[in-house]
Amino acid sequence: MSSGANNRPTYARITGTGSYLPGEPVSNPDLVARGIDTSDEWIIERTGIRYRHFVASDETTGAMAKIASERALAMAGLDAGELDLIVLATSTPDFVFPSTACLLQGALGNHGATVFDVQAVCSGFVYALAVADKFIRSGTHKKALVVGSDAFSNILDWQDRGTCVLFGDGAGAVVLEAAAAPGVLSSVLRADGAQADILSVPGQVRCGRVWGDPFLRMEGQAVFRNAVRVLVSVAEECCRAAGMETREIDWLIPHQANIRIIDATSRKMGLAREKVIVTVDRHGNTSAASVPLALDEAVRDGRIRKGQRVLLEGVGGGFTWGAVLFEF
Ligand code: UT7
Repeated sequence: MSSGANNRPTYARITGTGSYLPGEPVSNPDLVARGIDTSDEWIIERTGIRYRHFVASDETTGAMAKIASERALAMAGLDAGELDLIVLATSTPDFVFPSTACLLQGALGNHGATVFDVQAVCSGFVYALAVADKFIRSGTHKKALVVGSDAFSNILDWQDRGTCVLFGDGAGAVVLEAAAAPGVLSSVLRADGAQADILSVPGQVRCGRVWGDPFLRMEGQAVFRNAVRVLVSVAEECCRAAGMETREIDWLIPHQANIRIIDATSRKMGLAREKVIVTVDRHGNTSAASVPLALDEAVRDGRIRKGQRVLLEGVGGGFTWGAVLFEF
């Protein structure tokens, strides 16, 4: 934690949230009607997912990010021109480069901020938020926009029923501002590259061609086991870093991949189900967007109130995982 000129520590507070879901909800029976060899019963029983949203063919990750960002900026009462930091988490960027964060900056009309993408797949938003918090605490930056935006429908193999029913598209954003009081209390970011192959899109764009496999591939059960283990351990580590027990938090917002992962995690943490924000039933797994989408929903419907302590958790490809604990 840095000290400013007045020797008081600087914290980073969330002052606005926003989100965006494209198009109409697509139900499990809609997927069956599109020819996918699955059933409403199987998807609900194994995942808890009932609906997801998909981008239109001309709708981009950056375009979704812009709408979510404008909503977060409006809640914070900030103009995009005032931002000095934009961090965007995605694994479905609009281009190889420039970064989707720079495209977002241009679309918002900001000039001169520090702007970059973070690539940590479904842990992306938690990574981006922790990084932005460190920029603000260092005293170099004061007003940050942190975004998670993903359009996984573009990287799904519709012949692979073990993955294509799980994911949806969307974006979520928060405004993070320097403040004299917390704010973010602690964060923990972890990864294990030795497990890169259990969840990946192993293709490359090279010499004008796509080399390898451009679709999402997953060893579902390995991801499931790892996810529960690391979500429990990182929650404990992040709360401990803030001098708290996990049962003392007001809200848990875990990555929304599968209701069975969410239930197993909260059970092992000893947390009542009523303290867990769940959107996976209506959003599916929106990767980097899942946590900020759930956060925005719970802020706007009044569940998350000023002064409450909220634990955000991500887990995904890489293998990556992490948590951010903050006071709202
Ligand atoms: O952000 C992190 C991203 N990923 C995750 O969090 C996913 C973690 N993993 C999971 O959520 C689960 O492993 C899945 C939901 C992906 C799969 O559930 P599972 O209980 O591990 O099922 P399974 O892969 O063992 O498959 C069981 C059966 C198989 O049939 P047989 O071999 O028993 O006859 C599959 O072919 O279910 C079949 N199956 C399906 N059936 C209907 C697989 N996908 C489907 C489907 N519809 N969509």
